[in-house]
Amino acid sequence: MSDLMATARSLVAQGRGILAADESTATITKRLAAVGVESSEQTRREYRDLLLGAPGVESFLSGVILYDETIRQRGRDDAFFVERLRSIGVHPGIKVDLGTEPLEGSPDETITRGLDGLSSRLVEYRDMGARFAKWRAVIHIGDGRPTRQALEANAFVLARYAKACQEVGLVPIVEPEVLMDGDHSIETCFDVTERTLHTVFEALWQHDVALEGMLLKPNMVIAGKGCAEQAPPDVVASETLRCLRRTVPAAVPGIVFLSGGQSAAQATHHLSEMNHEAQPWQLSFSYGRALQDEALRAWAGDDAKVDTARKVFLRRGALTAAARSGSYDPSEEAA
Ligand code: 13P
Repeated sequence: MSDLMATARSLVAQGRGILAADESTATITKRLAAVGVESSEQTRREYRDLLLGAPGVESFLSGVILYDETIRQRGRDDAFFVERLRSIGVHPGIKVDLGTEPLEGSPDETITRGLDGLSSRLVEYRDMGARFAKWRAVIHIGDGRPTRQALEANAFVLARYAKACQEVGLVPIVEPEVLMDGDHSIETCFDVTERTLHTVFEALWQHDVALEGMLLKPNMVIAGKGCAEQAPPDVVASETLRCLRRTVPAAVPGIVFLSGGQSAAQATHHLSEMNHEAQPWQLSFSYGRALQDEALRAWAGDDAKVDTARKVFLRRGALTAAARSGSYDPSEEAA
């Protein structure tokens, strides 16, 4: 248990955070297609190498979440990505859910797959060098959703996963993502996020998950992408904090937000606002798109642009790391 606590705490140590580079093959194929790159084992490896091989990533990264394919790959320097990360003091992590499928009885909602055979996969990943894991549950808003059934089924599965991780010495990142898809208001997002987190922590307690040895990866409290009324950054920050204070025990060492479709600048700004005052938990990031999108566009598959894209990535990393201490300056976006 003391190892789990130490790993969880080091993942949220001041000044650094987590890169989610664990897109499934289907998701990374979409991201690559958006910049005109065909997805193959090689292009996926080259792209991940661009990120993980950027010199100095350890200045803003405490951990990287990998995908099953990536954890078995080597970078351009012929070292396994896991080895490279460990050699620079960055914890390797692994996505262990197998994606979502329609929820029986409520097919417009989803349940996350992957509990079958989970323990043996966790042991394999641990033996390959992973120190932590991630499981994403998805909560949909709209038209009677989320149902009680969807909240409870996803919370139950998250808790089973978290317990299984701790049993083999991996820190679970528990990710219940309330989606930004839709035109719902920030008030609705607050209400749904509050219900989601209450349900999740009830299930974690029932499954005897050690809160001190896990991290929570939630959405921020924010209006749907299609909502005409978008709250300013200080309101997103204060509503998110108000919701988390009502639901997340102080025993949890850290909260690492997902970016969920916010722009890089928005995600950075919101995190910085929340870090203006000390909170019961460390408030950090576990961003995918918000850390990667600019670098992906700068690269767009062109070998000659790897260095430029890495600079773009390092700059975004530095801005996001500044948000950990509330010292991000939005005017730097223009620079
Ligand atoms: P985004 O930051 O792009 O939402 O990705 C984070 C993540 O890991 C989703 O599971």
